[in-house]
Amino acid sequence: MNLAAAYMQELTALARQTVTESCVLMRNENHTLPLTAGMRVAVFGTAQLHYYPSGLGSGGLVNTNGMTGLYDALAESGLCTLNETVRSAYKAWEMAHPFQTGDGWARHPWAQEEMPLTDELLDAASADAEAAIVIIGRTAGEDKDNQDVPGSWHLTSAEEAMIAQVSARFARTAVLLNVGNVMDMTWIERTKPGAVLYIWQGGQEGARGTVDVVFGRTAPSGRLTDTIALSAADYPSAPNHGSETRNVYAEDVYVGYRYFETFASEKVLYPFGYGLSYTTFAHTPISVERVGEKVTLRSQVGNTGDAVASEVVQAYVQAPQGRLGKPVRVLCGFDKTAQLAPGEQTEVTITAPLTDLASYDDSGVTGHRSCWLLEAGEYRFYLGANVREAAFAGSFTLEEDLVLEQLTEACAPQTSFERLRPGADGAAVYEPAPLATHGVNGLRAAHIPEEIPQTGDRGLKLADAAEGRCSLRDFVAQFSDEDLHTIVRGEGMSSSRVTPGTAGCIGGVSDSLTAMGIPAVCCSDGPSGIRMDCGNTAFYLPSGTAQACTWNRGLIRELYAREALDMRKNRIDMLLAPGMNIHRSPLNGRNFEYFSEDPLVTGRMASAQLAGLHRYGVTGVIKHFACNSQEFCRRKVEAVVSERALREIYLRGFELAVREGQARSIMTSYNPINGVYAASSHDLLTVILRQQWGFTGAVMTDWWAFGSNDDLNPSTTYMASMIRAQNDLFMVMNDPASNSGNDDSSAEMAAGRVSRAEYQRSAMSICRTVIGMPAFERLCGHETELDRQLEEQREAEGDVMLDVRAMTVGAETMISGSEINLTAGGATLYQAHLEKRGVFAISIRYRVAEAVTGVTQVSLAVSQDSRLLGMETHTGEDHDWHMLEAVTSPIRRRLIFYLRLFSATGGIEIDYVQVKRIETWEE
Ligand code: BGC
Repeated sequence: MNLAAAYMQELTALARQTVTESCVLMRNENHTLPLTAGMRVAVFGTAQLHYYPSGLGSGGLVNTNGMTGLYDALAESGLCTLNETVRSAYKAWEMAHPFQTGDGWARHPWAQEEMPLTDELLDAASADAEAAIVIIGRTAGEDKDNQDVPGSWHLTSAEEAMIAQVSARFARTAVLLNVGNVMDMTWIERTKPGAVLYIWQGGQEGARGTVDVVFGRTAPSGRLTDTIALSAADYPSAPNHGSETRNVYAEDVYVGYRYFETFASEKVLYPFGYGLSYTTFAHTPISVERVGEKVTLRSQVGNTGDAVASEVVQAYVQAPQGRLGKPVRVLCGFDKTAQLAPGEQTEVTITAPLTDLASYDDSGVTGHRSCWLLEAGEYRFYLGANVREAAFAGSFTLEEDLVLEQLTEACAPQTSFERLRPGADGAAVYEPAPLATHGVNGLRAAHIPEEIPQTGDRGLKLADAAEGRCSLRDFVAQFSDEDLHTIVRGEGMSSSRVTPGTAGCIGGVSDSLTAMGIPAVCCSDGPSGIRMDCGNTAFYLPSGTAQACTWNRGLIRELYAREALDMRKNRIDMLLAPGMNIHRSPLNGRNFEYFSEDPLVTGRMASAQLAGLHRYGVTGVIKHFACNSQEFCRRKVEAVVSERALREIYLRGFELAVREGQARSIMTSYNPINGVYAASSHDLLTVILRQQWGFTGAVMTDWWAFGSNDDLNPSTTYMASMIRAQNDLFMVMNDPASNSGNDDSSAEMAAGRVSRAEYQRSAMSICRTVIGMPAFERLCGHETELDRQLEEQREAEGDVMLDVRAMTVGAETMISGSEINLTAGGATLYQAHLEKRGVFAISIRYRVAEAVTGVTQVSLAVSQDSRLLGMETHTGEDHDWHMLEAVTSPIRRRLIFYLRLFSATGGIEIDYVQVKRIETWEE
């Protein structure tokens, strides 16, 4: 079998393994799990009707034809007999209580209404079934956060009653949490189910992988990448999360377990790193050895139970409190064993560079201001199964401070606030956070490069620069000012230059740029797989949190190497992923896309994904840089945060992805950080990212993001301030060549407030990034056998047909919009019976529903058979009526065609659809 044919099978198998390795077993009394093959099982919970493969929004709009729900996966497995009475009750409930999708983009309610259980149903179920599965479902999403209320962080009373009732009847009750994010778990003690398993949102193989775990084909080996506290209010960010305008990160570096282990261990219900297995493991630390810039930690792990399973080994450091104050535990390395048979032992070696043990002094209290350093004292190491159980393994002592890197202050706060730290007795105290010593005007003086004298067109193509026949400088010297102002604009949503229905493209966004051999490089969301709002299908990956809970970097690297082939097949060069924001609060709506409350897990998982993507020449756009910790008011809520917390927590994962993962592209966040919008932050993008971390790729904004000019006065048109900061690309405009987004480039350059040299520098960063991308290779005629095979496969895959309605098409046919309700991911398909053959014009009058607001993206696509005829995307800021006009290809033979309307997002109101014959073929 060739690679193109094999990859989908491999992707499917790796995704399924990712799911099994991500499941976190929270409780397992009396060996409730695994269930035994051949058992009779009753399945409870309305979530059995709708599996959540991911949350909502740009990170969740993968259109796939490979979805299987949990009930169907159980049935298909042949491992159990399912109770039909209970199933029928849920089916009947669904008829009367259809799945609620809310109004517009990412507006589903986070939970669906639960069916109350009657004694009669429970009697019937328990008389027949030996075990019960209860499914709890939660979605999550973009532009909307979770709430500390029932139906979101908490169970609803109906859900809790269901778990209690079922647990009282069935000794073997397993609760499966099909959720994006950790949630309240205090109900376990009240309802006492036999087993509880986080199955997360596992993409299209989520349900099958879960069944593997539930029936013990493989033991769950997922471990929490977040702490679960007793209440949402216990998280240290709680008092400073959810503001419309400004959140003060007063907890400083004490995020997640760093806070709980240092100050509030009694508030933890399940510690960071926690997770049970079907077996037990003994961890025996062997040694800790520091040689030069590295510490090597060795531990023995033995399987002491009676099931085959793999185990995660976690290494933590306790640095001396010193003058800075430190969390009492910081994760400094991790590894996962292979599957161990009962009685088998293995040795695990974890190497931690000293940089993973270091702290950043933003105040000068150590005498080493703006340095990464290890303060003098004893460094104690702990190895084991989670942050609480990790046992002392050894230590080394530094006689004096060891400075690893001298930097300069960047991104420090402009606003005074008090930050948390341990006092002399270890108790929580607050100290003033050190303030910036310089201001943050978006166009403040910066390092301006030397201008490259413009040469006009010398016939040099980008390939000449790529293959060393000229320098990138010589190539960019040919750009006119218009070219320079155009190349910094991304085209989208849904550029006609690239794969339809994607978020946009960069590079060759005008005829003049294309003529110079710059390809239009396709960018698609991410992170759950490829998002194509036109209705094309792609593979749906497990969510970011699920992936992180595997703690298995090798697995994720292999998964993404196959995802790279899905991208190649669909002609996608850059996936707008991974999402790397820190789980600062469990109430952030997009946590499902992100990995963890810990930056090391975040950075290492992102690096693993990038390594996989880079194997086949595509890449990821790591996002959202930085502090996109909240969805509510995400375009304007400012993060006020110390430079130390930025460096150690919020930027650290990105730094690892740049330095270790070789990230080639990065997306800035919508929000301002310490007084300046991320896209205009010279400190963030020039000083830290490029000068200090050595990044040489392209930086793009989030879609329609604001820049700052003077302080926090924001606008999407402030391109000059973005270019000065080295945010190379504004995403996105419909027509970059005509400056349809109305940016200020020419005006600001003419006024001398930004220089040509800065545009040339960004042009070079963009060109450097697109060289080597599949689109570039295609343009150079370097298509490989792999491309040919993938192309063949893509063509062979037809489109999925859904919900077919019949219509008769005469000279002119109208369908009233009231008959069409396009829900998210929903297609309405008409089998159009033609009175006469010919060519047909299709006109759709539509608008974005009033309920949709903000920069949410709403799309409408129209296809003839499986051929996309037209597609439009608008934001929730545009409620005007629009016309989507399209013309079919000639229909000469058949008297039929399929007209398909598709909205990946929902939130579209259709006034009418008109189908008019504009050419006729007589028999
Ligand atoms: C999201 C990004 C996404 C972009 C393009 C924005 O709303 O925040 O994560 O990549 O849209 O769809």
